[in-house]
Amino acid sequence: MKVSVIGASGRVGRTAAFCLAEENMVSKLVLFAREESLEKIEGESLDMYDAMAAKEIRIKILSSCELENLHDSDIVVITAGVPRTAGMSRSDIAIPNAKIVAEYARLVAEYSPNSIIMVVTNPVDVMTYVALKASGFDRNKVFGLGNHLDSLRLRNMLAKHFNIHVSEVHTRVIGEHGDHMVPLVSSTSIGGILIKNYALDGTIDVEGMVKKVINAGSYVIDKKGSTEFGPAYAIANIISTILNDDKKILTVSAYLDGEIEDIKDVCLGVPVKLGINGIERIIPIKMSQNEIDAFKKAAKFVKKETDAVMKSLE
Ligand code: 2OP
Repeated sequence: MKVSVIGASGRVGRTAAFCLAEENMVSKLVLFAREESLEKIEGESLDMYDAMAAKEIRIKILSSCELENLHDSDIVVITAGVPRTAGMSRSDIAIPNAKIVAEYARLVAEYSPNSIIMVVTNPVDVMTYVALKASGFDRNKVFGLGNHLDSLRLRNMLAKHFNIHVSEVHTRVIGEHGDHMVPLVSSTSIGGILIKNYALDGTIDVEGMVKKVINAGSYVIDKKGSTEFGPAYAIANIISTILNDDKKILTVSAYLDGEIEDIKDVCLGVPVKLGINGIERIIPIKMSQNEIDAFKKAAKFVKKETDAVMKSLE
C-alpha cells in the first residue's frame, strides 16, 4: 500500500508519516513538500530509515517535490497549510489554507485520480469541503481528521476521571473540530455501561470536560508550538482502518447530504463506517435534544464559514 503525505516538512505531517511507517502499515511512503523544504524532508526520510532498521521494518520512503511521485497513492494526506499559532483560532487561517488545499486537491485528482484524500489542514471541516469540490472526487473518497482526535481526547479525560483503562471508555465527539464540537454524552459508555447508569462516581463536570477538549489543541500549542503526536496517531488510526478494510466506525469530517438531522451540503464530524474504499456509510444516530441543537448550531457555523471561504476562492 502507498500513502503520500503532502506537507511532510511540518510537524504533524512528519510525525504522521513516521507513525504510518513504524506501524508497518504501508510498503511505500512519499514525503511530499515544496522544493524549498526538500532538504528537510530528505533528512526526515533518512532519519526514519534508521528507526525502521531498529524495528526491522522493510519500507520504501521517498522524499519528493515532484508531483509525479504522488502517482498511484492509495491515500493522500493533506497536512499542508499555515499552522495555527498561539492565540489564533482555526478559523483565522481558513482563507490562506483554502487556496493551498484547493490547489493540492486539484493536483491529487490529476496525478493520483484513484486515491482517497484525507484532509488534516485546519479549519478541517471547511478544508474537507474545499478538497471535495476542488478534486471532484466522490464524497466517500474525501474526508477530514477532526473529531476522531477530539474523541480520543475525551476518552482520555474520562478514563483519567474514573481511573480506568482508556479502552473501557467508548465515547464520540461530532460536529465541528473547534468550538462547536458536540460530545455525545448520551451515547457514552464506561465498560459497556451507559454513563448515566454508571453511578460509581456521581456527576461528572461534562461542561468542564468539553471545554478542556475544545481547548486541548490550543493548550498544547501554547506550550510546544503545535500539536503533533495526538493528530499523528489519530491519522494513523484512520489510515490503518482503511488499509486493513477494518469496517470500524470512526468519526471523520464527511460531506453530509441529509443523513443526520437532514443537514446538507456541509462537512462535519460524524460517525462513518470506514473500509478499503473510504467512507462506506455515514451512520445515522439518535441524539438527545441538547445534542441535536448543538449539532445544528455547529452545522450553521461551519456552513457559513464554508460559504465565505468558497466565495473567496471564486
Ligand atoms: C489539533 O486539535 C491539529 O487541529 C488539530 O491538534
